Amino acid sequence: MLPVEVLARAQAEMLSFGNSGMSVMELSHRSDLFGNILQRAKDHLRMLLSADERYEILFLPGGATMQFSMVPMSFLLRDQTADFVVTGSWSVKAKREARKYGAVREIFSSEQSGFRTVPEQNQLDFSSDAAYLHYTSNETIDGVEFPYDLDGNGVPVVCDASSNILSKQIDITKYSLLYAGAQKNLGPSGVTVVIIRRDFMAKASDAAIPLLNYKEIAAADSMVNTPNTWGIYLISLVCQWLLERGGTESIERANAAKAVIVYKAIDDSEGFYMGHVEPSARSNMNVTFRLQSEDLEVKFCTEAEAHEMAGLRGHRSVGGIRASMYNAFPLQGAERLADFMRDFARRNR
Ligand SMILES: Cc1ncc(COP(=O)(O)O)c(C=O)c1O
Repeated sequence: MLPVEVLARAQAEMLSFGNSGMSVMELSHRSDLFGNILQRAKDHLRMLLSADERYEILFLPGGATMQFSMVPMSFLLRDQTADFVVTGSWSVKAKREARKYGAVREIFSSEQSGFRTVPEQNQLDFSSDAAYLHYTSNETIDGVEFPYDLDGNGVPVVCDASSNILSKQIDITKYSLLYAGAQKNLGPSGVTVVIIRRDFMAKASDAAIPLLNYKEIAAADSMVNTPNTWGIYLISLVCQWLLERGGTESIERANAAKAVIVYKAIDDSEGFYMGHVEPSARSNMNVTFRLQSEDLEVKFCTEAEAHEMAGLRGHRSVGGIRASMYNAFPLQGAERLADFMRDFARRNR
C-alpha cells in the first residue's frame, strides 16, 4: 500500500511536473528537474535513516533479488567466507545465491523448526575473518522480524531490509550495506535502494558489468544508464510524506499500535487463530497465522475480500493467512481486520 496522499500528488503532477509541461516519465534524466528529484530522494533517505556522509545512497535496478548476487560477486572472493543468519524464505534465497561465489557459513538457521524465531545477539558465533555477515531484518513470507539491529562485532553487516525499511528507527552505523526493493515501504517496484558505507564499498571487487559495480554506480550518481525516474520520484514523495509525519520515530509507534491490535485478536481467540511466529520474533509488518483447516482459511479470505480486505492469503509457498501492514496501512485497517477476525471466529467455531 502506498500513501493515498502520495498517489494523489503523483496524479496531480502527472501531466506537468512543476512548470515543465511534462510528466516525470518524460523528463530527461540528465535535466536539472530530474537531478533535483534524485537529490531530494537521497537527502530524504539520508535524513530518515540518519545516514551521514560515510554512506552512499544508490538506486539500482534488478530488485532485492539482484542484491542476492551482487553482494557476493562484489565482496565474497573465492578464498573467503560469508556468514549467514537464516530466519526465513528470503534469507534462504540470499544464501543460495551467495554459495555460487564463495564459501558460506550458516551461523544460525531456524529452518528445521519452520522459521518461527530469530536468534539473540549472544547466540551468534561469527567467523571473525568473514567477508561479511548477511541477515534479513524482516522475513516477509514467514512474518519473522528482528527486534534489534544485529551487531557484527567488527564483521561488516549486510542486511536485506526490503520489507521493513523505514518502518522503525534503526542504528544505521551497525550496517555496512543495507538494501531494499522499494515496493513495500518506499515506492513502486522496479527500483532498489542500497545504502552502503563508502569504506566498505572501497573493498568491492570491480565487476566487469558496470550495472553490477557499486563503485561505478556511485561515481555515476546511480545513472550508469537511464534510471527508473518514475520510481525514484515516488520514493522522494513517500519519504517526504514520512518526514512530514514525524519520520521513523512516529511511524514506529504507529506500526506497533497496528500490530498489537491484530496480534491481540489472534491471542484472544482461544486457539481459533494460531500465530505462526514466537511472540519475541513477531513482525510488525507481516502478521502470519493459520486457522484449523485450509478450507476455513479459504472461507476466511473469501469473506474478508467481500468486506474489502484484500491480499490476506499467505504466500503461495507457505499458505495460511498473512496480513501485511506496511507504513501506509492505516490504524483503522488493523481495527477493521481485528473486528472481522472476532466476528468470523464467533460464527465458525
Ligand atoms: C525480504 C525480501 N527480500 C527480497 C525480496 C525480493 O525482492 P524483489 O522482488 O525486489 O527482487 C522480497 C520481495 O518480496 C522480500 O520481501
